Amino acid sequence: MKSIEILRTEYLTKIKEASSDAELEEVRILAMGKKGEITLKLRQLGQMDLQQRKDIAPLLNALKNEINQAIANKREALVEEELDAQIRKEWLDITLPGRSRRIGSIHPVNQTIDQAVAIFSAMGFSYAEGPQIETDWHNFDALNMPPEHPARQEHDTFFIKPKDTDNGQPNVLRTHTSPVQIRSMTENGVPIRVIAPGRVYRCDYDQTHTPMFHQIEGLAIDTDLTMANLKWVLEEFCRAFFEIDNVELRFRASHFPFTEPSAEVDIKCSWGDGQLKIGEGNDWLEILGCGMVHPNVLNASGVDLDKYQGFAFGMGLDRIAMLKYGIPDLRAFFESDIRWLRHYGFSPVDTPALHSGLSL
Ligand code: DAH
Repeated sequence: MKSIEILRTEYLTKIKEASSDAELEEVRILAMGKKGEITLKLRQLGQMDLQQRKDIAPLLNALKNEINQAIANKREALVEEELDAQIRKEWLDITLPGRSRRIGSIHPVNQTIDQAVAIFSAMGFSYAEGPQIETDWHNFDALNMPPEHPARQEHDTFFIKPKDTDNGQPNVLRTHTSPVQIRSMTENGVPIRVIAPGRVYRCDYDQTHTPMFHQIEGLAIDTDLTMANLKWVLEEFCRAFFEIDNVELRFRASHFPFTEPSAEVDIKCSWGDGQLKIGEGNDWLEILGCGMVHPNVLNASGVDLDKYQGFAFGMGLDRIAMLKYGIPDLRAFFESDIRWLRHYGFSPVDTPALHSGLSL
């Protein structure tokens, strides 16, 4: 039979060398199990005479305790080791920059629309929409352009064959967003403050014209509105949109059938090293048309002329997007070239809002 000392060395070594919980359990059974070596030794105590028992029992008990303790310690160490290994395996450096996953990007025109909506809604304008296939009446007649009006020629209109239900009246692809003025006033009445961004169509194509482009219409009707209110709204808009304080606008007398008086508005800019800068220099770029809404337009929309008047404006959205982001060719806007979109597009989470800064 092995001596206590040999058992001790043997088992302590085995415990030390156990590399997993299962191995450790095997060692424990070998020593302390029902038929374990130390268990058997303890059982033999009963057959010893008193003196022998007195000599050996404390030694055996001490051995049993020491082995039990060693097993418990080793078990704890194994758990810790396992945890360490797991942590090492699942290690993550949270200070590394995030890996961006592209989930498409927002087209500069849509980003511009979102920005314009954010700015005008802060000034109390609601969002309105109208159909892109519009009646000839909404697109022209109601806007003070009867059939014989010369201004109709300038619109390079796409006409659409009338349906049986159209009473022989042609439909058109709307040539501007101004018909939304009529629809908003007829549907909601006055006083009113709306903006209407959207697609418009004209038969024209070169570096600065595409058959489809975008406008944003603005309309404000109330009992006490003047051209001064119009100027303030447009200046405020440009300041917020171009994100500079010193915008300068120039109102040039002009003519539109649906406004009287009418003006075209230019924004001050400079062309230095082929780079366009808004708010400085000596050049002017036209960005919109506007004026006080013509009485015939109010009439066509059922508005009480004695009580109400107001202003309207129409702005080229593609053009202000080109100005803000330095995009030289309008045609590229609509070619769906993925490289162009990646370069000029915006992150879908970069939602424009005045409180967080228009562009992040
Ligand atoms: N509808 C005009 C166009 O497409 C733009 C415009 C000019 C709109 C003056 C307006 C306005 O509301 O008041 O050329």
